[in-house]
Amino acid sequence: MSDRDLHNISRLSLFPFTSEVNDRGHLCIGGCDVVDLVREYGTPLYLFDEFTIRYNCREFRSEFGKYYSNTMIIYASKAFLNRALARIMHQEQMGLDVVSGGELSIAHSVGFPLDKVYFHGNNKTLGELNLALDWGVGRIVVDNFYELELLSELAQSKSLEQDILLRLTPGVDPHAHRYTTTGALDSKFGFPMIEGQAEQAVKQAISASNLNLLGFHFHLGSPIVEMNPYEGAIEMVLNFAHRMKTNYRLEIAEFSPGGGFAVRYTVGADEPSIRDYAQAITGKLLSLLPEMDLGVPRLIIEPGRRIIAQAGVALYHVGATKEIPGVKKYVFVDGGMSDNIRPALYEAEYEAVVANKILDEGVGQFTIAGKLCESGDILVRDTKLPAVSTGDLIAMPACGAYCVAMSSNYNALPRPAIVMLNQGEAHLIRRRENYQDLMGLDID
Ligand code: LLP
Repeated sequence: MSDRDLHNISRLSLFPFTSEVNDRGHLCIGGCDVVDLVREYGTPLYLFDEFTIRYNCREFRSEFGKYYSNTMIIYASKAFLNRALARIMHQEQMGLDVVSGGELSIAHSVGFPLDKVYFHGNNKTLGELNLALDWGVGRIVVDNFYELELLSELAQSKSLEQDILLRLTPGVDPHAHRYTTTGALDSKFGFPMIEGQAEQAVKQAISASNLNLLGFHFHLGSPIVEMNPYEGAIEMVLNFAHRMKTNYRLEIAEFSPGGGFAVRYTVGADEPSIRDYAQAITGKLLSLLPEMDLGVPRLIIEPGRRIIAQAGVALYHVGATKEIPGVKKYVFVDGGMSDNIRPALYEAEYEAVVANKILDEGVGQFTIAGKLCESGDILVRDTKLPAVSTGDLIAMPACGAYCVAMSSNYNALPRPAIVMLNQGEAHLIRRRENYQDLMGLDID
């Protein structure tokens, strides 16, 4: 096998499971030639492969279920949610983690069973909590004392009993990017487990007549590639739960170590398997729960990125190119930080291929830059590509999580269209924004 083949095959492994190269040398996903797709839908375009999404949901359910049958997998919808995806999550028997009235409304609009929804967030508004209670959201994951009081009053005023979890901050560093670290002591999220704050929250929750405290949640950050942070935090929180049982006879019915499961963005990266996470998390639980006399609480696992990242592909057309002799070769694409802020925000690294000539040999290092008026708008730095020129099609793998979800209209760029692919069929699941949409909310 030549270097050329190895180079392309290794990048292909980052794309959705259904990816292949056809005899025209084009990238195909879900049985569809991406060159045909962009002819129909234009660029920038985000593709999602339905098979990969469903496969990942099933793998989470089977791997965790194998070791700990009382598990519920809930998709962290902040990674990306729209109506089509919410329907798929429902069909795959997933629960949903939402963090806003908006995400909740999308789920509600497709008849997602709201008793399987967990509502997270450090500053849920009164309006959002009202909506959640009126719609019968399964669990509110209470983040702080203000929310505890507000929710208690609200549930009382509506004469209903609301199931809650308390979010705890174990003070464990998951060694993720500092912007996506949440479980360290200095975090805006959750009740700190020092100075009796978490215990105070338990006392208050137990005495609130309209709140039903079911257990504890923590989320350390993401992506997390080590098992130690999960194991250490599980031990801390179960120790705490044991103390709460001794002190207040609190029985926990649920326990959630959050999400944060890493994915491969680049060829060199080596991420743990879902089984590795399942074994580490359930192994720790199974050894500690009997010791601490905590029964078999329902385990709630909250993957976002690991469900959707690999399923998504971003496609861009190359417009201008620029060579600074001896310094750099740039290719400019028709999207950028407005549809994928991750490289600019977290220095996230991605790979790319030239989707219309995927078998051509790499000839040099290129930097793929977006079209926005910011020097930081670089999608991929110094990557080996074939001779790439105007009109070529750049495909970036692992773009399904937190790209579209964090997209903006910066520079008044319309957001991309999104297409769901399945067995040779393509369905537009979100149309491209147009200039009219950009002005649609303005009032003269
Ligand atoms: N559960 C909770 C409470 C969370 O806050 C998050 C993510 C998750 C689960 C899912 O984490 P995941 O499995 O997707 O890693 N915008 C950043 C990621 C922010 C994650 C926020 N919370 C990024 O693009 O990397």
